[in-house]
Amino acid sequence: MRIAADESMSQRDKTTLSTLMGRKRSGKKIAVLTAYDYPNACIQEEAGVDCILVGDSAAQVVLGHDSTLPITLDFLVTLATAVRRGAPSVYLIGDMPYLSYQVTAPEAIRNAGRFMAEAGCDCVKVEGDRRLAETVSAMTAATIPVMAHLGLRPQAVHQTGGYRAQGRTAESANRLIEDARILEEAGACALLLEAVPPEPARIIAEATRLPVIGCGAGPHCDGHVVVLHDMLGLSTGPMPRFVKRYGDLRTATADAVRAWVLDIASGAYPGAEHVYPMGEGESAGLRALGNSESA
Ligand code: KIV
Repeated sequence: MRIAADESMSQRDKTTLSTLMGRKRSGKKIAVLTAYDYPNACIQEEAGVDCILVGDSAAQVVLGHDSTLPITLDFLVTLATAVRRGAPSVYLIGDMPYLSYQVTAPEAIRNAGRFMAEAGCDCVKVEGDRRLAETVSAMTAATIPVMAHLGLRPQAVHQTGGYRAQGRTAESANRLIEDARILEEAGACALLLEAVPPEPARIIAEATRLPVIGCGAGPHCDGHVVVLHDMLGLSTGPMPRFVKRYGDLRTATADAVRAWVLDIASGAYPGAEHVYPMGEGESAGLRALGNSESA
């Protein structure tokens, strides 16, 4: 059964990169969330989320992997098309999965093009530091807007040795600040800072004309993103310190499912109101199975 977008949903203007640039200038913060499916996209469109990231975090929160690495481009593009159907007005960001952009720039362009052409994304996101500048530049030249994801880069977990905050020493913070400058110069359309202390995040946000989206990067960013399942209380396991819970859908869903199991066991479901009645008097014409009298 298809879930319809809320009929009362007010028509929104399409959020574009110039909307986000304007928000940076005006100081009105940008609300970003991840989404991976149509019903949640409908809800976010209606609730006023500005940007949706179809994140490779789906590998963990949707598919149950212990890292983001196993997710495929095909799968993420399919999710992004569903999200776009549910949220036509948001600024939609397609997350480039592991090894879809690191090998060669032409491969990065072709893969990013799928998010743009097949899913109707507004930009793609890549994880990287200054070493990715040439690729960002080539993608930008190919008319693909690129958000550069700096700081904690989950796709590099095997290189960095874990999910650790970045930029906590002056030396690494200065490197991060310089990476941001280089990626802006390479043509990035926006920056995402994950797990970075507020001080370097502030310097980056103030120095750049690009919208800076923080994911655990303190209050000075131009907008903020978290993983939907984390803020809704659907995820299991330890949460990053920057996650604030806005719901407990895991408990709510478990309660509903337990009630279903009990109702099936007790026969409380289905009730009279859940059945399709036969036409008046029709049940009198029924024959037992095996009765040879034909109609
Ligand atoms: O994939 C994702 O959800 C992300 C966010 C953590 C920023 O990249």
